[in-house]
Amino acid sequence: MIETSSLDATRAAYDAVATRYAELFRDSTEGLPLDRALVDAFAESVRAAGAGPVADLGCGPGGVTARLASLGVSAFGVDASPAMIELARREYPDLRFDEGSMLALDIEDGTLGDVLSWYSIIHTPPRDLPVIFAEFARTLEPGGHLLLGFFATDDDPHPAEPFDHKVSLAYRLSIDHVADLAAKAGLMEIARLRREPSEGERFRHGRLLARKPTEP
Ligand SMILES: C[S@@+](CC[C@H](N)C(=O)[O-])C[C@H]1O[C@@H](n2cnc3c(N)ncnc32)[C@H](O)[C@@H]1O
Repeated sequence: MIETSSLDATRAAYDAVATRYAELFRDSTEGLPLDRALVDAFAESVRAAGAGPVADLGCGPGGVTARLASLGVSAFGVDASPAMIELARREYPDLRFDEGSMLALDIEDGTLGDVLSWYSIIHTPPRDLPVIFAEFARTLEPGGHLLLGFFATDDDPHPAEPFDHKVSLAYRLSIDHVADLAAKAGLMEIARLRREPSEGERFRHGRLLARKPTEP
């Protein structure tokens, strides 16, 4: 059973800091050329596939959703924090932003062209992560991609390590573990990247690109 108190705590914490967060990280890839390039490459492959809409799950203030839209992708955002959704709607009135949880998405099976989850799985207790990956797999179209960004552990033998994130308790995850969660949900790994901390950052970062097979 999913423990809702953790999601409630995350939601309340982001509601409380939404304005400040948006001032600091409107588009969290800005100033990070490698991350920006990855999201832009994701947008390019999305456009080339010409599939259904891209969901930016855990979109926060919506800057990355807007980046995808500016690159010609049909994108919308979903976030558990009503304050984040309100900010995103105000800042990007032409885009769609819905309140919702990745643990139980209000999205039909197989209707998303692609999914982006940029630092939004980090607050989920590790035992609940399989539920989120099952939701990614359920809502993606066959052939659809999943791009994940997260804080990475230093040593892969540790699947998850809690840390004192400034907003709410969060977890660093091993890239192997994230790839395994994707594989167990039926998503095939395409690429992975580990980025060392930039100046002022505490941790390494992991990125994983996976795909839902076209054949079951
Ligand atoms: C670190 S912020 C990242 C926001 C945005 N993706 C970015 O890159 O700036 C994490 C976001 O994930 C959202 N979030 C956390 N758990 C969630 C869940 N289970 N369902 C939906 N959103 C969630 C939080 O409300 C918060 O806005």
